[in-house]
This record gives sequence, structure tokens and C-alpha cells, in this order.
Amino acid sequence: MLQSSKDDGGAQAPAIVLREAYSAPAFWIDTVDLCFDLDPAKTRVLNKMTLRRNPDVPAQALRLDGEELNLARVLVNGQGTSFKMDGDKLVLENLPEGNEPFALEIFTTCNPGKNTKLMGLYVSNDSFFTQCEAEGFRRITYFLDRPDVMASYTVTLRADKAKYPVLLSNGNLVEQGALEDGRHFAKWVDPHKKPCYLFALVAGQLVAREQRITSRAGKDHLLQVYVRPGDLDKTEHAMNSLMASVAWDEARFGLPLDLERFMVVATSDFNMGAMENKGLNIFNTKYVLANQATATDVDYSNIESVVGHEYFHNWTGNRITCRDWFQLSLKEGLTVFRDQEFSQDLCADPSARAVKRIEDVRVLRTAQFPEDAGPMAHPVRPDSYIEINNFYTVTIYEKGAEVVRMMQTLTSRAGFAKGMTLYFERFDGQAVTCDDFAQAIADANSDSPLAALLPQFKRWYSQAGTPRVAARGEYNAEAKTYTLHLSQSCAPTVGQPEKLPFVIPVSLGLVGAQTGAALPLQLQGTTTASDSYLFVLSQASESVTFENVAEEPVPSILRGFSAPVVLDFDYSDAQLLTLLAHDNDPFNRWEAGQRLALRSATAAIASGNTSGVLNDAYIAAMRAVLRHPTLDAAFKELVLTLPSETYIAEQLDLVDPQRIHAVRDSMRLQLARALFADWEWAYAEHQDNGAYRPDPLSSGRRALAGMALTFLCLASTESRDAVWPGKTLQRFKDAGNMTDRFNALQALVSAGHAHAAPALARFYSQFKDEALVLDKWFALQASAPDRGGNVLPAVRQLMTHPDFNLRNPNRARSVIFSYCSGNPGGFHRADAAGYVFWSERVMELDATNPQVAARLARAMDRWKRLAEPYRSAACEALKRVAAKVDLSNDVREVVERALAD
Ligand code: TRP
Ligand code: ZN
Repeated sequence: MLQSSKDDGGAQAPAIVLREAYSAPAFWIDTVDLCFDLDPAKTRVLNKMTLRRNPDVPAQALRLDGEELNLARVLVNGQGTSFKMDGDKLVLENLPEGNEPFALEIFTTCNPGKNTKLMGLYVSNDSFFTQCEAEGFRRITYFLDRPDVMASYTVTLRADKAKYPVLLSNGNLVEQGALEDGRHFAKWVDPHKKPCYLFALVAGQLVAREQRITSRAGKDHLLQVYVRPGDLDKTEHAMNSLMASVAWDEARFGLPLDLERFMVVATSDFNMGAMENKGLNIFNTKYVLANQATATDVDYSNIESVVGHEYFHNWTGNRITCRDWFQLSLKEGLTVFRDQEFSQDLCADPSARAVKRIEDVRVLRTAQFPEDAGPMAHPVRPDSYIEINNFYTVTIYEKGAEVVRMMQTLTSRAGFAKGMTLYFERFDGQAVTCDDFAQAIADANSDSPLAALLPQFKRWYSQAGTPRVAARGEYNAEAKTYTLHLSQSCAPTVGQPEKLPFVIPVSLGLVGAQTGAALPLQLQGTTTASDSYLFVLSQASESVTFENVAEEPVPSILRGFSAPVVLDFDYSDAQLLTLLAHDNDPFNRWEAGQRLALRSATAAIASGNTSGVLNDAYIAAMRAVLRHPTLDAAFKELVLTLPSETYIAEQLDLVDPQRIHAVRDSMRLQLARALFADWEWAYAEHQDNGAYRPDPLSSGRRALAGMALTFLCLASTESRDAVWPGKTLQRFKDAGNMTDRFNALQALVSAGHAHAAPALARFYSQFKDEALVLDKWFALQASAPDRGGNVLPAVRQLMTHPDFNLRNPNRARSVIFSYCSGNPGGFHRADAAGYVFWSERVMELDATNPQVAARLARAMDRWKRLAEPYRSAACEALKRVAAKVDLSNDVREVVERALAD
């Protein structure tokens, strides 16, 4: 059975859903005609379907999913019929025999105004919205709520015209008009079949920015971005991003927009980032609304990615969808890969492409690697779950994207595009599996290493855990040969004690140890040489030898982060300094700097000595990068950013978060002081950027200026020098855009300067009516560096602020998640008060929104590696949550996995 049974009264253990237990549905639903009478307290839903038995499955009862619905009437072919309830399921046993289609009519009501889970139909700011993925449609009507049941939808919406002037659903508007009693209606027909998780409706007082476009193929389309009336001036960037997305998918993959009208709607109450409902994407306001006064460069860049992501789902997810939820990465991994490529392709400059790649890898390593090493570890294609909402993870999304990226690496960019074409030829309009995708890419590239190694390559889908690649080099100065010995391993994960070797594309380069020159790579036994070589590691250990290597090389391994693995190579400091100064591959250049910093950090953490952590060579190298005449500012900012506390913690077997925090703090202060004059230079050089434009070049300059200010404030605050804090306060007041303003505010807050409090107060009064800016204001305080345990009381105080609202996920995240997940130094307290706070909030949130509560629950994933007294206290807190009787399956799955053996 595919469906989990939820809300079973808490008596039974929650059902585990198994991938192996997939079976095709016993019935198909061909058409759905939905009629909504929208009312916040009682919405009436009339659902008329045509169904037929699936001839490939033995005859059986029809079991429809439903949740929190009031059932009023069931008719089969227009006649009353007997039915029964099995838990939440509506079971119909006496249906017509044979394979003829029949009509099923179900009338239910629901209460959108009381829907705090934000799944199904809910009310936000007096408007109606839906969220159906993964299993929310069953909260709207009884249905076969599974992605392999695809139907044609007709939707009629009826509502009060004054309160809900705009009525939207998927597809094309075919009719609208007035009704009695001040009500009106709109009828929508979606020309494409879809699974019910892509259904959407929106009703309310909304306004739209509109744009007509003509595709390459000459078709006309209407693009619309719907927002609340005061927000139209913040929709330009989202619209530009949408137009760029349409053009990119057509240019890069030959995939056109298949609808006359494409709508994006923003809502401020949303559990996740955005949702790709067919023709009617619904977005968290955070990923739509931007103008220079309220949004930062990072916001602009996130909007571009998320608008692209949801748009690209139109083909990868909607036209071809998932057979079952275990195949989630089929659409998510592929679509993240596509949105990453989109953002890279929008960069004019190669160095901006590299910056984007580094940012993506940073997310993977600080979030996905820990997930893969923790209690929630799961393969890119999981084998089981209790609550599917818990599997919208960095593994499914980001590691899934890396798996697709490796396929492109193994087939070339052109080969991968051919593979995509074959994928659409084979499967357009169907619900398929990850295997189907990989097979299509390989079949279109039959002479590629992917085709040769496909069954083994697919271990990336089935085996969890982050592989480690250990490398060792041997230079023979006489023979002028260089041999690299590579071996791979992967630690056990839950349920997978043994791992088989992966197919690991390792992109290689050689850099002269003395000269820093790029040495040509000539594989032994061949006659041609190139600047880079792709070695495909598929055995447990293998070697590769290069000839005519003129001088002793430093190997540049895993260029561009060619595989999602940990690379162990015993580099000397001198070798890393060579790579940092000379490697042609910007990713490995950055990586060399990270390795040097990490090495100093772990040594200081081990010894307990927190002074003079960074050595002179590192500091000189950082000065050289900062002052470099040609490197761009965004890249410099990345190189000068120390590895995060979370990333440092991941490298250690025993984690003392306070020690890590203290060491990193002292490293920051050291960089601030040792490079003081250089930071002054960098600020002067990068502070003025003309009229605001959120392009990579000028946003890089703002990022570097912001970093300079942060270090200047930090060093000055420590030495009680008033000049830079004063300049920073002035910058905060005068800034012409949110990026500069917020960077200045952050510089004061993170230095703990006395100017921080008045600046925060001023910021609040200036932006108290801008919800997304207030989120930043809350988040900044909740993630401020801890000074003597001051953050937790501040966080508790923020929760009593009149603008705090636990029911709004963005606001809850801005305070609670920023503290519990984004502030390790403030959260991991020896007195356990941080963990107590966490357990209270998980239980409190669980009562209204289990999906958000379960995300917060994950903040404790890595508790087992904590040193005492943190470890015991964390365990206590987890047990307190697990002991709660009426816990949701969402939170229960997370805390029980955390506590298991
Ligand atoms: N499919 C959405 C995406 O583009 C994810 C998503 C949005 C989602 N809202 C959700 C998943 C609610 C589960 C529940 O990535
Ligand atoms: Zn997605």
C-alpha cells in the first residue's frame, strides 16, 4: 500500500510506507470537475469525477484519501450508494463492475479559516490559498491522493465579489460572471492532465503585474505576478526573473512554455519556499517581493533562483511527474540542477559562475553532509518514510542535483541535453521513476562512461552517506611521471552497514609547485595533453599516471567539486598556498584557503589555545587575495569568509560548540586586526557602487564592502576606537539600498557595539510595516554573537514582541530557527536552557503546524557527537519531546530517529 494512514488517533504506531510495496492504483480518475463555494468558516466542495477500474489490477474496493473533511453526500452515477469509513479513508465497495467509466460525486465541507497547518485550503490575510504537495489535496476533497493518478481538471470558484474579486485556478479562464447576493464566479479549465498535488486555487484582493511575451517559436503568452495591493512596486525583479526563465529553458533545453497564461501568486503564510502548481505557482512573499529599499542582494538572487526553479518544474515535475513520492528527487534534484545552471548561465563573467558554484557547494557541505552523517540520513531515492513531508530534504534537493550534475559531467553538456530530449520523448505526460531518468540520459549517450557504468552509477540513488576519496601522489623526477593513487570508502548509515563503490568523476589538474604554472596533463600511453583531465573512479582503489610532467606538481583534485564527496589529501601548507595563489580552477583556489583555515581551527580546538590561531603565511595570503588586482570582489569575499561553525563541527568527532565558537571568534578578530589597513582600503575601494543594480558584479562589491565594515567595527570595538563604528552608523543611516543598510547594521550588532541598540530601534521604526524586513530585524537579533549568554533572554523577549506571531512560518523561522539552527554559540549552553527552549517551541509549534515543527526538531540531529554536558542535556530535551502523547507523526519520526540506538 502506498498511502500512509495519518491521524490514527495516536493509538497505533504510525504506518511506515515502503518503496518496495508500490502497486499501481486500482482505479484511474480521468476527469475532475470541482466546484467551490468559498467561505472562511465553511467552504463547500462539490467534486464530480469520472473513474474507471485499472484493468491491470485485480478488482477491489475504491479507497479514497481524506483528512479533516465533513462528508455530506456520495453519489455513483447519480444514485446514492453505500460507503464506509476506514480511519480517514472513504471506502466504496459496491461500484459498477467492468471497465466502463462511471461518475462519482462527492460533496464535502471544510474550514479553511481554522487550517493552521497551511496544507490544503487555507486563509492568509483574508485571501484563500492552497498547498497540495505532497498530500494536501486530501484535505480539500476525497481523492486518490497519489502522483501517478493524473486527471483533467475543470474548476469553478464562487465567492463574495467584494471580498474576493480575484478568483484563480490552473489553466485557462473560460467563463466568469455575477451571481446573486453579491457573489461572483470564475471557471477554469486546465488543458493538461496533472496529479492532484499540482492543483491550486487562489481567491482574494490581489493585483497583478502583467507582461506579454512572444516565445522563440512565435507563441504569445501572458505572464502575471499577483500580490497584495501595496506590493506592486516590489514585483519587477520577479517578473524579470520569470521572463529570463522562459527564455532560458527554451534556449538551453528546447522546452517552451506550454500555457497561454502563467501566474505567480505571493502569500506571506507559506511552509516552504514556493510551489510549482500547473500554471499557478504559489510563492512565499520572501521569494517574490523585492525593491532596493527593502531587499538585499541575497534576496534578489534567491528570488531569481526560486522563480526559475518553480518555472522549470513545468517540464521537470509537471509534464513528467513522479510515480510515487520515493521518486521525489526525480523532479527536485533535476530542477535544482536546472535552476543552478540557469543562475550560472545568467552570469556574464566566468568568475561569477564560479562564485555561484562555490555558494551551492557551501550549502551542500554545511547542510547535506551533516544530514548524510546523522540520524535522518537517507538515499537520494529513499526506501521508506513515515511522513513524506520530512523528506523534502537537502539530500533529495541538493545531493539529488549533484547526482544529475555528475551525469552531465560524464556525458558532456551537449550529451546531457540530448539525454533530456530523449527523456521527454519517452515519458512526456507520464509519472515515472529515477531509474527511467537515468536510463534515458545513458541511452542517449551510449558511448559515454555513464552508459558503461550505469548500474553502478545508480548507487548514488540507493546508497546514503557521503563517500570519502583518499588521494596520494607520487612524483618521479627522473621519469617525469606523476601518479595519483585514489581510493574510496563510505561510512555505514542507518540500515546500510556495507557500501559498494560509487562512480566518482574526479576532475584533475596539476599546478607547478615551484612556478605555479598550469602543467599539461598527458595520460600515460597517450600523446595529447590538456589543462584538465576527468578521471572516473569506479573501483575501491585505482591509480592514474601522467607523463611529461616538467616539475613536481601540486595536484588540483575534484575541480569544480566534480562529485559530492569528501577529499582527503595530505596537503602541506605550502602546497595549499600554491593552489590558493595559482590554481586555474577557482573552486579549488577557494577550497585551498578553506583547508588552511580549517586546519588552524581544528588545531586550536584540540589544544584549547585560542590566541594567534592563524599563522603569518595564511594572513599574508589573505592580504594578497584581498588586494589582488584582477580577482573579483564576490570571489574575494568568499575566500576571506572563514569556514562556518557548523562546517568546522562536522570535521570533529567530539564537538564542543563553545570551544568552536571561541576559536572562530578569535580567528575573526585576528583577521580584523592583522588586515586592518587592508580592510580600510577595501572599504574605500568598494563602498561606492552607483545606482543600485542587483547584478553579480556590483553585489560582489557590496558584499566585500560589508565584510570590510564588519571587520573594521569588530577591531575598533575591541580597541575602543570610535571612528569606524561612527562611520558604520552613518552608513546605516545614509545607505541608498537595503544591502548596504543591513550590512552596516549587522556590522554594529556583530561587533556588539553600543551603537547597535539605537540602530536596531531606528531600523524597526523605519520598517515596522514591511513584514519581510521585520523578519530580518528579528533574525539579526536571534543570530547575534552570544556575549555571556545574552542571546537566549533576548530571544524570549522577542517572542513577546507585538509583531511576533508563531503562526506565521516566516516570523517563527526568523526568531526560533535563527536561534536554534543559526546560532550555535548562543544555542548550545552549558546550562541546557537553549535545549529547553527548543523543546518548548517544537511542542508548541507541533500543535498548529507539524511540518514546521518537524523542521525545527531537526536542529538536534547531531546531538550524539556533542561533548558533555551538552550531550546529556540534548538527549533529555529530545526525550521530553518524544514523551509527549499527542505528537504529530512529523515530529515523532524526527525525534525517534534521533534517539534510536
Ligand atoms: N515542490 C516545491 C518545490 O518547488 C516544494 C514545496 C512547496 C513543498 N511547498 C511544500 C513540499 C509543502 C511539501 C510541502 O520545491
Ligand atoms: Zn522543487
